[in-house]
Amino acid sequence: MAMTKSQTGLIGLGTMGAALALNIAEKGFPIAVWNRTTSVTHDFKAGAGDLADRITPTDTLADLVAAIQPPRAIILMVPAGPAVDDMLTALTPHLSSDDLVIDAGNANFHDTNRRAAAGLPFRFLGMGVSGGEEGARHGPAIMGGGAREDWDRIAPVLHAIAAKHKDQPCADWMGPAGAGHFVKTVHNGIEYADMQMIAEVYGIMRDGLALSAPQIADILADWNKGILQSYLIEISAAVAAAKDPLTGDSLLDVILDKAGQKGTGRWTAIEAQHLSAPIPVIEAAVAARNISARLDERRAGESVYGPAPEPTPDVTISDLQDALTAGKILCYAQGFTMTAAAGASFGWDLQLPAIARVWRAGCIIRSSMLDAMAQALTEDPARNLILAPRFMAEIKRCLPALRRVVSAAALHGHALPALSAGLAWFDAMRTARGTANMIQGQRDFFGLHGFDRLDGKDLHHGPWAHG
Ligand code: 6PG
Repeated sequence: MAMTKSQTGLIGLGTMGAALALNIAEKGFPIAVWNRTTSVTHDFKAGAGDLADRITPTDTLADLVAAIQPPRAIILMVPAGPAVDDMLTALTPHLSSDDLVIDAGNANFHDTNRRAAAGLPFRFLGMGVSGGEEGARHGPAIMGGGAREDWDRIAPVLHAIAAKHKDQPCADWMGPAGAGHFVKTVHNGIEYADMQMIAEVYGIMRDGLALSAPQIADILADWNKGILQSYLIEISAAVAAAKDPLTGDSLLDVILDKAGQKGTGRWTAIEAQHLSAPIPVIEAAVAARNISARLDERRAGESVYGPAPEPTPDVTISDLQDALTAGKILCYAQGFTMTAAAGASFGWDLQLPAIARVWRAGCIIRSSMLDAMAQALTEDPARNLILAPRFMAEIKRCLPALRRVVSAAALHGHALPALSAGLAWFDAMRTARGTANMIQGQRDFFGLHGFDRLDGKDLHHGPWAHG
């Protein structure tokens, strides 16, 4: 095959970058690649099989730029943070003003906002990419941010490489500047919450109902045929079914119960606090990872307060399935309302239905529920999902089970931080007369902050003696 000059380049041939470059080449786009370690670049081409003819390895950034036909598009797949800034600086002398650089890493959207505002001497997009290595190779979900015309320029490539939901590409422009990386951040917050809630029902099955990992695998695989059908349930079933190659035991039983994190879930929780957007399920999931990391303290706690919790015979597998269903709807409702709050606060016209559509395939939180969410948000993007008729019906059906599971867990000493946070949020959200009147009274008592009255009368302070 004759070498065609590339219009696209890619920097950073780590796991994700290499997979994305192969995906781009496979969809028929010649691509020039560069990696800090030159041997990696050449090994990449050598290992690209049938796709090698579409790949141009380059040894220097100048060579990379020269190998791409202007106006160029260069995808960065380098670690988020200073490495991106370093690369933008290194590229600057080589690029023209209409060349486009696309940061496809897991950037903090504030960094993307800063870079977009910095007056870079070339075009710049921030792009959230979800789906892990498999997604990057065969179809990720893509959330773009920056100037719309820059997105439109690269969109044919991105649509070709993205996952498809019923032939529709799961790649879309989310809004200006850091909007794409912001939406990816919320995606990851939901990812943390979804994973945590699955881990919580797994814990009840293991410690409360004394089920083995293979039994739990079968239950999860069964759930994956119903309303809970999702990538995360599917892989949880596979994880529970796996055998440890070293011991032959269930792999899940030999994995240390201490979760790591790169920080994107934490960013979601921090941003939600700045936005005054309540996302307690996601916050609980972030906290749960932090608690999991305190293994020594947990071991000390168990030695003082007693061993593993008693069995919980008073919940059923079907209760757990329904509790997880309710928790998942509540969590997504929080993620979408946070996104709406961010749109209003940042002046971004974030389209919630488009976000739900992009998440239907390719990404880690893909699930059959997202199509129904996209439809509900299309009907009324401003309505909380818990007020959309189809989800109202589902919540009403599943709520008794969520109450049974959360209360049985509390009685028997099982920690369900995310599911119980979801239930408490729901109960607060369906209570017209809350308890913040007491908070307002307290604030006025010690700080003369004043309060509004139910009767609208014009007296806004209490008769406090010290006033
Ligand atoms: C995805 C994932 C991916 C990755 C994150 C989160 O959408 O493909 O979110 O970006 O898993 O790095 O990882 P942590 O759990 O380490 O924060």
